[in-house]
Amino acid sequence: MAMAVDVEQLTEAEARAELARLAEAISAANLAYHTLDAPELSDADFDALKRRNLAIEARFPSLKRSDSPSEQVGGAVAEGFGKVAHAVRMLSLENAFLDSDVAEFEERVRKYLGAAALAFTAEPKIDGLSLSLRYENGVLLQAATRGDGEIGENVTENARTIADIPQRLTDAPALLEVRGEVYMSHADFAALNQRQAERGGRTFANPRNAAAGSLRQLDANITAARPLRFFAYAWGALSAPLATTQIDAIARLNRLGFQTNPLTVLCSGPDEMLAQYRKIEAERALLGYDIDGVVYKVNDLGLQARLGFRSATPRWAIAHKFAAELAWTQLEAIDIQVGRTGALSPVARLTPVTVGGVVVANATLHNEDYIAGRAAKGSPIREGRDIRIGDWVQIYRAGDVIPKIADVDLTRRPDDAQPYVFPHTCPQCGSPAHREPGDAVRRCTGGLICPAQAMERLKHFVSRGAFDIEGLGAKQVEMFFHDEDLPVKSPADIFTLAARDAANGLRKLKNREGFGETSVKKLFAAIDAKRKIPLDRLIFGLGIRHVGEVASSLLARHYSTWPAFEAAITHALPGTPEWAELTSIDGVGAVLAGSLVAALQNGPERAAIDALVAELDVQPVQALGRVDSPVAGKTVVFTGTLEKMSRAEAKARAEALGAKVSGSVSAKTDLLVAGPGAGSKAKDAQKHGVKIIDEDDWLALIGQA
Ligand code: IVH
Repeated sequence: MAMAVDVEQLTEAEARAELARLAEAISAANLAYHTLDAPELSDADFDALKRRNLAIEARFPSLKRSDSPSEQVGGAVAEGFGKVAHAVRMLSLENAFLDSDVAEFEERVRKYLGAAALAFTAEPKIDGLSLSLRYENGVLLQAATRGDGEIGENVTENARTIADIPQRLTDAPALLEVRGEVYMSHADFAALNQRQAERGGRTFANPRNAAAGSLRQLDANITAARPLRFFAYAWGALSAPLATTQIDAIARLNRLGFQTNPLTVLCSGPDEMLAQYRKIEAERALLGYDIDGVVYKVNDLGLQARLGFRSATPRWAIAHKFAAELAWTQLEAIDIQVGRTGALSPVARLTPVTVGGVVVANATLHNEDYIAGRAAKGSPIREGRDIRIGDWVQIYRAGDVIPKIADVDLTRRPDDAQPYVFPHTCPQCGSPAHREPGDAVRRCTGGLICPAQAMERLKHFVSRGAFDIEGLGAKQVEMFFHDEDLPVKSPADIFTLAARDAANGLRKLKNREGFGETSVKKLFAAIDAKRKIPLDRLIFGLGIRHVGEVASSLLARHYSTWPAFEAAITHALPGTPEWAELTSIDGVGAVLAGSLVAALQNGPERAAIDALVAELDVQPVQALGRVDSPVAGKTVVFTGTLEKMSRAEAKARAEALGAKVSGSVSAKTDLLVAGPGAGSKAKDAQKHGVKIIDEDDWLALIGQA
């Protein structure tokens, strides 16, 4: 392709023409690659096209095409496969990086279960893609990729071509979903890439991509020609248990005819877990396939069931990742980004360098102390070496997250390099940027007058867990924010867009580049649809510091309606009953409460919230969990020592039954569950006439005695 003009130099007309060319080229490349298996572009060239397309769209959001390649994940493949709803969700794993993370995990699990010691399995974490295989009466009926965990792609025909996957099982439960990892060995990967290169085809960046690309082929003949392998390590739906322990279940899968990883062992505790980690790490280079860590799982399947799941990960397992790859490069500049809550975040602009197969041009610098070489409490990091523009810095990526800077090479520091002076005013709005005692972060004090904060809050407002308005993402928000005819500066403005547009005469949205009659109608309809919004989403959408999704849900479940919530927070100040009630919600501490109160009691901020709520129809939220249980809707407090389970488990079970669990006793408490050693809470309960029962009564009450 000819040398492309810098995106910044493109005129609108040139940009439009190029976006059209790019859409065509990318779609042709996708077709050639995914469907015809006759790749015409290298991975790098293909990625360059997509990057350029994105860059042009970022500069001219209004020119984004309805068939924009940036909206298509993996091209035609995603559409080509049928969808499969997983009978049991396919989860991911929490990550541990340090030995101390593993120790904390072990302790957390032990405490949750109230157990003295626990056995865990340890096994390699295979770097491939997960697959769920459904067998009914011993016959393989369906294979599905993970997808988003709830819904995956039906790749049954392709999975049938993998030699490690049995088509039939004898002596298996009538229903059995086997889960594991599809991967490609190093040798097969090298041979595949060589074949591809010889045919002038597209080569793969790593075995994981090769495995994914090969499994997700519309033509199973292509998959068959690509040597994929499979390790079984878990299961989904079952008609009968495989065993009573993880290690025996894996052995059973092996006897059924699946490959299971030979480095899977049973460990008696953290010391043996870490020893197995070291052993696997030492053997890593010789295994012949990629692994990226070690997975530990509670061995007893009964205990796994008691531990259960958080929203996306099991409590009974963790992935201990291997140390990240490192690379040296030069720090070209430090930019300061201003976040939703005003935090000034320094970002390193780097001379691009490849780290672990990915080109890295930016890295986080955390905060001013990190740049200066100091840790939170003043102790030195990097032995006190500061980071300066022009320095050679060592980059690492840990667990596929944002790249970080590990170290700086003082021997290569330019003579004229100056210590970095962290700004004390906001680079976006000029307001003073303060650092509160105990906070590592300096924050812009401009609040909503800071355009960066206002914009980031809007982006948060329309994001997934919040209002999630179709057709109104971060890019569109950015466009409307700067728009002269239809400015959107605060969330309420979104809901007045249609009315303002109607009054705009000739300069209506539908007459603009990139918009048409239909797309504008769709956008306004999508906005209207979100006027009806559950209370928890509204609270989360406000983007108040410390008030995340979990806290929003707790608050919504406690207060149930907007008027109740709003009245309570407006009157809550330390010392008032409203404050006591707010901070009695389990999971709501003084810091969160203070932040919430500050937002709802502050003039301009409150005005913006009121203007928004005036546009909405806020839906009340019921307490989660079962409504037919004897404790549904009741407020319960646990105190003293529980003997049958930990506080955390008791709380999780109570909430699953629809109870509210609170941290302190008030007149609103329905029940105090008191174990031995109960102190002031029992007295409070007597004072308020709250019923007190012991742990056995409680278990009997909830039918779990
Ligand atoms: S157990 C409920 N074991 O890692 C948890 N996962 O980061 C089920 N993975 O989505 C997963 N090797 O694709 C488990 N030995 C192993 C694994 C493994 C690789 C993958 C799996 C999962 C991802 C989570």
